Amino acid sequence: MSDVFAEIEALRSEALAELGQAEGADAIEAFRIKYLGTKGKLKDAMKLLGKAAPADKPKLGQAVNAVQAAIKEAYEAKHAGAASAAAGAKDAIDVTEPGDRPTVGRSHVISKVVDELLELFGRLGFATATGPELEDDWHNFVALNIPASHPARDPNDNFYLAGQGDWSKGEGVLLRTQTSTVQVRIMETQRPPIRVVIPGRVYRPDTIDATHLPMFHQLEALVVDRDVTMVDLKSTALQFVRGYFGPATQVRFRPSFFPFTEPSAEVDVWFEDKQRWIELGGCGMVHPNVLTNCGIDPNEFSGWAFGFGVERIAMRKYAISDIRMLVENDKRFLEQV
Ligand code: DAH
Repeated sequence: MSDVFAEIEALRSEALAELGQAEGADAIEAFRIKYLGTKGKLKDAMKLLGKAAPADKPKLGQAVNAVQAAIKEAYEAKHAGAASAAAGAKDAIDVTEPGDRPTVGRSHVISKVVDELLELFGRLGFATATGPELEDDWHNFVALNIPASHPARDPNDNFYLAGQGDWSKGEGVLLRTQTSTVQVRIMETQRPPIRVVIPGRVYRPDTIDATHLPMFHQLEALVVDRDVTMVDLKSTALQFVRGYFGPATQVRFRPSFFPFTEPSAEVDVWFEDKQRWIELGGCGMVHPNVLTNCGIDPNEFSGWAFGFGVERIAMRKYAISDIRMLVENDKRFLEQV
């Protein structure tokens, strides 16, 4: 029995001596195969275990494991030393190698378009304002001349917050359906002259398709001053459209109805490539009731306003065919704009 132990110990000294002699990556690899490989000498030593008497097996097993660990450790140290020596032989840093480009994020298309619009309106003398996305009945409806009986309040058309008051009693709290709410907030707190654009998210329970999302963005504008007329509205809309889509762009005003403007119109832009009119949104002269609701005397001041859809503007500007692409976050799409 003792000669089996001796044999195993002999394997250790033989291996370590041989490893000491091995020079170069090839020799070290040959050593690994010879001793530690799947058909190597240590595997052979394991086979001795099978033949040993049952009583000797545990001790013998430990001995083989200890020898294997020692050889492996010595091999790994030698292997690592050889690898770093080889690397050190070359230039440690290749200064001609191109670096890794850090990946940085970028603005979303909608953020970019909003920035462009604010910049353009800034040049036309407009300040920027924002307001809360969670609104009350007064700012979303009443102050905007939408009476209590109006179907626009229906829960099917609005995201009311559950447990926040009875919408049918005018106590509802909802995600705003339009940025016109911020017109009210501004007129309640500022005196004319007012000249402001308001970008923001709005929410409507629409079915999602290529042109509808339940959350989208609007750019609202409000001008209130003495002697403001529809001509100012039309010329500003024209300047904006030509400034943003190109100097030859055609604009059309179609008579329409909104409770908070009188007269009201919808603005269409002609797109040559599509050979059709695309609606940007609504506009009009601020209704005298709205001015009164906000504490501004309609006999002294008049105003105009518009609310345009930002996604529509973005889709036309950047030839995006499906509004859903704006929220799917596919990098291949996002990286193009
Ligand atoms: N708030 C309207 C909507 O969301 C759009 C609109 C129409 C805004 C006329 C205005 C306006 O400021 O004057 O459909």
